[in-house]
Amino acid sequence: MNGEIDFIMMYVTHDAFRRDLARLEAAASDGRASTPGVRAGWENFKTQLHVHHTVEDTWLWPRLTELVKDRPGALALLADMESEHARLDPMLEEFDRALAEAATDLTERAKALTAVLDGHLEHEEEEALPLIQEMLTPGDWSEFGRTMARRQGVRGAAVYVPWIKDGMPREDQRRFLGELPAPVRALDRLIWTPRYRRRHLWE
Ligand SMILES: [Fe+2]
Repeated sequence: MNGEIDFIMMYVTHDAFRRDLARLEAAASDGRASTPGVRAGWENFKTQLHVHHTVEDTWLWPRLTELVKDRPGALALLADMESEHARLDPMLEEFDRALAEAATDLTERAKALTAVLDGHLEHEEEEALPLIQEMLTPGDWSEFGRTMARRQGVRGAAVYVPWIKDGMPREDQRRFLGELPAPVRALDRLIWTPRYRRRHLWE
């Protein structure tokens, strides 16, 4: 037994994607999609999603693929993870174009994007996370976390941490912050969150 992997960072990140798309959909249906706050929220959503999927595609799925070489079902699942990521990219670009043209069907497009992203996140949580639990050690999982942190860098973390906490119940915030090193928590409290709030994303 290698001990259990705690997927808290994966879940809070997925929930932040879901929250952002709910905000996008609400903004579109209220006719606020082109306000600076909504544009900035959308740009940040794309950046966060890109970082998350890039590290999964370059580190996580390849690592698992190595370990399940003789299991066709698991290999098919990992191929699905990559193709679901690839399916989202053109939808993001199309939404960008529609936003630039102030298209009249932004609400429907936001709904379609939500349906595809939700489907992917659910698939990942229900099938890929159990496979990760089975095949990787908590040490491997920490390495994935460090790879994600390196990809974000300090500038990325300065947005990622307050973005995750945005709209989160206080108890969940405490649990999330408990996963971070004390100096990061201090930076977040003193600098990152105040700066993030001043950007008024999605407002
Ligand atoms: Fe994920």
